[in-house]
Amino acid sequence: MTDPAAANPGSRPPPAVAIRKLTTQLGSKRIFDGIDLEVPRGSVTAIMGPSGTGKTTLLRHLTGQLAFDSGRVTVLGEDIGQLHHEPLYRLRRRMGMLFQHGALLTDLTVFDNVAFPLRENTDLPEPLIRTLVLLKLQSVGLRGAAGLMPAELSGGMARRVALARAIALDPELMLYDEPFVGLDPIAVAAVVELIITLNRTLGVTSLVVAHEIEHLRRVADRLVVLADGGIIADGPFDQVQADPSPMVQQFLRGLSDGPVPFHYPAAPLTDELGIGGAT
Ligand SMILES: Nc1ncnc2c1ncn2[C@@H]1O[C@H](COP(=O)(O)OP(=O)(O)O)[C@@H](O)[C@H]1O
Ligand SMILES: [Mg+2]
Repeated sequence: MTDPAAANPGSRPPPAVAIRKLTTQLGSKRIFDGIDLEVPRGSVTAIMGPSGTGKTTLLRHLTGQLAFDSGRVTVLGEDIGQLHHEPLYRLRRRMGMLFQHGALLTDLTVFDNVAFPLRENTDLPEPLIRTLVLLKLQSVGLRGAAGLMPAELSGGMARRVALARAIALDPELMLYDEPFVGLDPIAVAAVVELIITLNRTLGVTSLVVAHEIEHLRRVADRLVVLADGGIIADGPFDQVQADPSPMVQQFLRGLSDGPVPFHYPAAPLTDELGIGGAT
């Protein structure tokens, strides 16, 4: 609607995501300290960083689920900070989210879980919904499981059903939060293939937060590393892996001792345990 490319067909489409000078404070913790990030349409970007660094927070800013303190976040041409209620819900329908804790509705079948967003957000007739649901389930290899209840699924199958549900409305932007955690190799392969297929065949822009660099390398063309309130590396995979910064190397090689502190800021242990020595 406010997409400038629609008004001016000759121009380059706006980026899928544009973040300018984003700052976020949660409780006493400064999560983002003025970050800038632009994600071109049709790209797959991997986001890594030590845990607690704000990766999930970043995705929640993009969906408008969590407000930020200052800066500007534009998603699919819309300024998230200016959207409320209906326009925000309309924008969210253009995004698919596979969040780590995005549970299935336990009292609905696999079929009805995937049909849910279609029934909630469209007026499509039931036969068409059936076709769409079966196609989405087919794409994650679980059409045969349509009649099962979530309790009958393995963890990997449940994640694949959640993925089928996330793509039910044909999103333009997919956000994945740790999509490989806890999955068996077959489910990992299915998720990897799906991220690739959605991108290559449908041009879906994707942001993938994960720790598994070998999977990320297969799906993403770019690697962004978050740490300490900022973006400490951003570029093609090989370039970031060869980054000489000790902070980037500490993180990528999984060293717990280096410029990025291993411990969340805390009072000295001896104080907290009441066994403090001489003061
Ligand atoms: N709603 C909240 N209120 C206060 N602190 C929060 C909230 N959500 C997350 N945090 C804190 O913000 C930091 C970043 O969290 P998160 O984005 O989940 O990190 P990551 O996904 O990179 O592991 C963590 O220290 C977390 O404890
Ligand atoms: Mg997280």
